[in-house]
Amino acid sequence: MSKQEVVYLNGNYSPKQETTLSILDRGFLFGDGVYELIPIYNKKIFYIDAHLERLKSSLQQINIAPSLLEDVDIIEIINRLIDQNNYDDYFIYIHISRGVDQKRNHIYSEDYKPTILIMGENYVPFNRDVIINGKKAILEDDYRWLKSNIKSTSLLANVLIKNKANDNGAYEALLLRDGFLTEGSASNVFMVKDGIIKTPRLSNKLLPGITRKFLVDLISLHHLEYSECDISKHELLDADEIFCSSSTNPVVPITQVNDKIICESAGSISLDLYKHAQDYIKNSYK
Ligand code: PDD
Repeated sequence: MSKQEVVYLNGNYSPKQETTLSILDRGFLFGDGVYELIPIYNKKIFYIDAHLERLKSSLQQINIAPSLLEDVDIIEIINRLIDQNNYDDYFIYIHISRGVDQKRNHIYSEDYKPTILIMGENYVPFNRDVIINGKKAILEDDYRWLKSNIKSTSLLANVLIKNKANDNGAYEALLLRDGFLTEGSASNVFMVKDGIIKTPRLSNKLLPGITRKFLVDLISLHHLEYSECDISKHELLDADEIFCSSSTNPVVPITQVNDKIICESAGSISLDLYKHAQDYIKNSYK
């Protein structure tokens, strides 16, 4: 990678460390914006259509006209960042806020001009040994708002919950709303019982993860048994296997939840899916 990593901000390309934003940007003042995190495999953009679809949906739901994306060629910008920064396996972060106001005001002006930031981020996925060992998770009340399907940059609740997990030596917090699983603080959650892979159905209570979609595609490709359904706390703790999915780590087996050991190491279905995901990425993003 070149020494000075270049980022895109509102039509300009500049070095990451030198790129700055106004203190009146609503993204900074109110968390008034949405984002995407997209994996780059072998210089190619992963599931780009699905990511752009979700971005459009997030924009629409916070009343920013998605037509904004017609004037900005996101794919071209990402490819330019990949070329210029020499990204092979990396992540692209897209952040669109409602833009800069004249003064701090909850009410936004009609003629807002969104801020568009696109930059690379280097998250290092877990290696195979970590995946085989599995990770610990804690249970937490899902006290977030009821629009968790929007990929909003207002992530305070997620940040507090993820840090609580981290303080307890856990990778993730599995969230329960009214006693039923929604998702993780930064991932979607699946469980396996008697050979059937289960995950909560999509709703306003969880993010429609692109990795979740990818795994559902793989589940169907490999004819595995699958169900989208309500999952109670009791069913979750009684699972044979649990795993989390996110763009940074497609399959992370969870072997312990609070003090309950789910399995001694990653279960066979979780490991199969992990391998299917690796193979798909290797073959499709050559
Ligand atoms: N987060 N649910 C939540 C609350 C998340 O924050 C994420 C991902 C997911 C999984 O979505 P996807 O498969 O599209 O990555 C589910 C990203 C990685 C982040 O905030 O950095």
